[in-house]
Amino acid sequence: MPATQTTLRIDKIKDHIGAEANGIDLRQPLDAATFRRLHDALIDNVALVIRDQKFTAAQFQDAAALFGELMEDQNRLYLAPGVPMVSTLSNRHKDSTGAIAKVGKNGSWHTDHTNQECPPKYTMLYAVELPDRGGGTAVCNMRDAYAALPGVLRRRIAGMETANTLISSTRFGTGNPDIVREQRQSANPPMIHPLVRTHPDNGTKAIWFHKNKVENILGIEPHETQDFLAGLLERAMRPEFVYLHESKLGDMLIVDNRSAMHKAGFDFDHCQHRLLYRALVRGGRPV
Ligand SMILES: [Fe+2]
Repeated sequence: MPATQTTLRIDKIKDHIGAEANGIDLRQPLDAATFRRLHDALIDNVALVIRDQKFTAAQFQDAAALFGELMEDQNRLYLAPGVPMVSTLSNRHKDSTGAIAKVGKNGSWHTDHTNQECPPKYTMLYAVELPDRGGGTAVCNMRDAYAALPGVLRRRIAGMETANTLISSTRFGTGNPDIVREQRQSANPPMIHPLVRTHPDNGTKAIWFHKNKVENILGIEPHETQDFLAGLLERAMRPEFVYLHESKLGDMLIVDNRSAMHKAGFDFDHCQHRLLYRALVRGGRPV
């Protein structure tokens, strides 16, 4: 019977988003009540930071698996050696041409793996090496962003559906060449998802998409779709809905993707190394 980690303390970071957990070591067994506190803090606050963890890649994988079934990163190029469900995010990764890889380097708001039928419900990041400053991860509470929209706009977007691919054809000229090639060769039909999804645990609705993967909103042309989505984000996002997570070593950040979009920051000295581990927990099909 695992011991209760009675030292766990959870505090809100901002009114609309973010909580942090202190006094817990996820290398140790978790009892059900402690897990429930972490889970509920995550669902309620959209982003949860668990401080002061000390993980190898394998230990991070084990800690991530406490929250559900892990799923493979669809990019198999940058895995942590010998740890198949942990991928690495690094500003030193190269693509097949030898250039620094544009993996998430455009720094746009998104949620992960929307081209899949069942995208991850949680994205988890663990900081391994950090630049002196910058390079944070921004997370936006998209359920509050949706709720704050005027009713007429909410009604307009509520029934919209997106067609999702590995990379939008509007990005073929500027995207990572390996991903563009894979998409050009793909025979997979686009994955259709709702633009506004409903959270399975609490019934709240949230705007949800990966702009670079949306080929089009059904019934709207690709370029017009890109403009519409950019305008929607501009309208919906407010500073109070956004938490900028400026990682400290030992931080494990968990994002509830059903209620969030996130963005990597590239505002740091690229002579320095930013290395994060990432794990994904499988979700259901968005509805
Ligand atoms: Fe991401």
